[in-house]
Amino acid sequence: MSDPYVYPGTDILKNILNIKDKETLDGAEANYVSLRLRELAENPLAGNYDFSHLALMHKYIFQDIYAWAGEIRTVNIEKEEPVLGGLSIEYSEKEKIKEDLSAALEKMVSRHWMELSLDDKVKCFSEDLAAVWKVHGFREGNTRLTVTFCCQFIEFQDIPVNRAIFEKHSAYVRNALVAYSAVFHDLGDLSKKEYLERIIRDSLENTGISDKQESIR
Ligand SMILES: Nc1ncnc2c1ncn2[C@@H]1O[C@H](COP(=O)(O)OP(=O)(O)OP(=O)(O)O)[C@@H](O)[C@H]1O
Ligand SMILES: [Mg+2]
Repeated sequence: MSDPYVYPGTDILKNILNIKDKETLDGAEANYVSLRLRELAENPLAGNYDFSHLALMHKYIFQDIYAWAGEIRTVNIEKEEPVLGGLSIEYSEKEKIKEDLSAALEKMVSRHWMELSLDDKVKCFSEDLAAVWKVHGFREGNTRLTVTFCCQFIEFQDIPVNRAIFEKHSAYVRNALVAYSAVFHDLGDLSKKEYLERIIRDSLENTGISDKQESIR
């Protein structure tokens, strides 16, 4: 099936800037998005950490680039993952996006975070972040959205988190999310949780001033 999100005959996502060159689009997207992410870090987006709140944050982050920012995808997606030998994670079917996101967020919100030990915080935050990510509710931008949203949520619980670690190691984070989510209908459970748990532990343990200064630069 042809993808309604791309310019016909290309794999370039239709965009507000009307850029039709992949590298130029990636660069423009990264610039606009990092500006919006900085704004969000300064001024958290108010909401109840439910589906609507997540969609609102997607709209905010990608408002300059995609006309459909904040709207869930209308197509099913697959992304070939080199770390899985070209397999794709089984992202949610488009009809189940809202239900799956609502369930994942409800689970995250209902935990008693302050009562958890560090080990349990690491385990639960990894599980919840990966559950939201595995839905991949939007056509693009799910990793940046999920990390930003979940970090804002955990800070809202008065648990400091070093967001700069995720930004600095974004390729590792994406591969760690893929490894965590590698559960397939036919091949079974090939998941490896330790990579994501390792970086989440780092982000919860190393909340010192020097890293924060690094993120501002
Ligand atoms: N937390 C982050 N902060 C800033 N930039 C990030 C962050 N995470 C990823 N990036 C950058 O965003 C770009 C796009 O990343 P990627 O395509 O892996 O994720 P995504 O577009 O957010 O989600 P997906 O493509 O899975 O829907 C990359 O250049 C990556 O370095
Ligand atoms: Mg992407």
